[in-house]
Amino acid sequence: MHHFEERDGELYCEDVPVRRVAEQVGTPFYLYSHATLTRHYRVFDEAFAGIDHLICFAMKANENLAILRLFANLGAGFDIVSGGELYRVLRAGGDPSRVVYSGVGKTAGEIDEALDARILCFNVESTEELHAIDERARRKGVRAPIALRVNPDVDPRTHPYIATGLRKSKFGIPVEQALRDYETARSLANLEVVGLDCHIGSQITETGPFTDAMKRLRDLVQRLRDAGITIRLLDIGGGLGIPYRDETPPAPAEDARALAEELREFNRTGCRILLEPGRVIVGNAGILVTRLLYRKGTDAKKFLVVDAAMNDLIRPALYGSWQEIRAVGKTGGERVVADVVGPICESGDFLAKDREVPAAAPGDLLAVMSAGAYGFVMSSNYNARPRVPEVLVRGEEIHVIRRRESYEDLVRGETIPEFLKNR
Ligand code: LLP
Repeated sequence: MHHFEERDGELYCEDVPVRRVAEQVGTPFYLYSHATLTRHYRVFDEAFAGIDHLICFAMKANENLAILRLFANLGAGFDIVSGGELYRVLRAGGDPSRVVYSGVGKTAGEIDEALDARILCFNVESTEELHAIDERARRKGVRAPIALRVNPDVDPRTHPYIATGLRKSKFGIPVEQALRDYETARSLANLEVVGLDCHIGSQITETGPFTDAMKRLRDLVQRLRDAGITIRLLDIGGGLGIPYRDETPPAPAEDARALAEELREFNRTGCRILLEPGRVIVGNAGILVTRLLYRKGTDAKKFLVVDAAMNDLIRPALYGSWQEIRAVGKTGGERVVADVVGPICESGDFLAKDREVPAAAPGDLLAVMSAGAYGFVMSSNYNARPRVPEVLVRGEEIHVIRRRESYEDLVRGETIPEFLKNR
């Protein structure tokens, strides 16, 4: 459920006509609904109400400071994957003692920053990384809290680029190798073994892969216990999907029900559950608004050229994702089959392909729905296009939470060496 609705033929975000935001900030822009963000967070949190748990929002899905603060205010922790993400959490006022740090390539500098911030846990993805963290902690005279991220080898049945829990993916440590790595971790003086972590993929639309992974984790924890290794944090990752089109992913409550018995058992053994949802919280809480510039084409093929492009939203080009396109203003209800394309000089620059969309005319606004996750965060300056603003609506209020970049922003940090100046 979200708060982007049509009223009298016009698209609203909560109590604000989307058109009014376009008048204020120009196009294109990302628009988020405060009520939807809050609701999605709460629904997820309440789904796990009977279980001792902590939500570590996977901020890679949306890293705007205002949105991080909103979740921090609701009690969230964060799942980070870089020093930059840690910096954002701290700048947003997030609590570092609720931060877990995932990713296969943490650098020495990033490890140091996370140690200094006293994060909750490092999710370690290789034997060599264990040694690297031990060494950084030794230099600082501290003990680093670690979990091993295991790869349970289950098929999440999602797009191959976002499947992470298969044996052939670069993520995690194979389950069979985990016990050996736990023994290693235990033997390293500057590490404290606190947890076990697992994340199998993203946009997962059934409970099966989650319950399969859970069984493997349970067996592993049993083997660890037999070896005298106990954990107090079990991080089950994120990955729950959302309906973009006709997918019917389980609601958070359904997913929680499928896992509840196992999770309670973990709680009984003194183990707290960590969750790393990203998309399910923010995906349907944001849209990308764009203006139609030109129509072109032949009888065989029509194009709607809009002012947003693959640099603003790369998901259609990169994953072939399908995201609904809606009219923002009143239309005559006519529809047209067309490609919705941007101004970038690549044929992969499309937001929709061979899609029946509103028969918009130049100047009309269109909304690309379900763009709150992996939208703005994956945008770039390709073709020297300034990144677009992000706007948060709350009731009748409009808050610009990131301004549009200027041309000056585009060249910030670049220099022409002297030798090139004297021709
Ligand atoms: N935890 C870890 C360790 C992850 O790698 C991810 C996502 C998450 C949590 C959050 O997953 P979510 O709940 O959002 O599914 N750019 C792609 C998605 C990449 C997901 C990467 N990892 C897309 O636009 O579909």
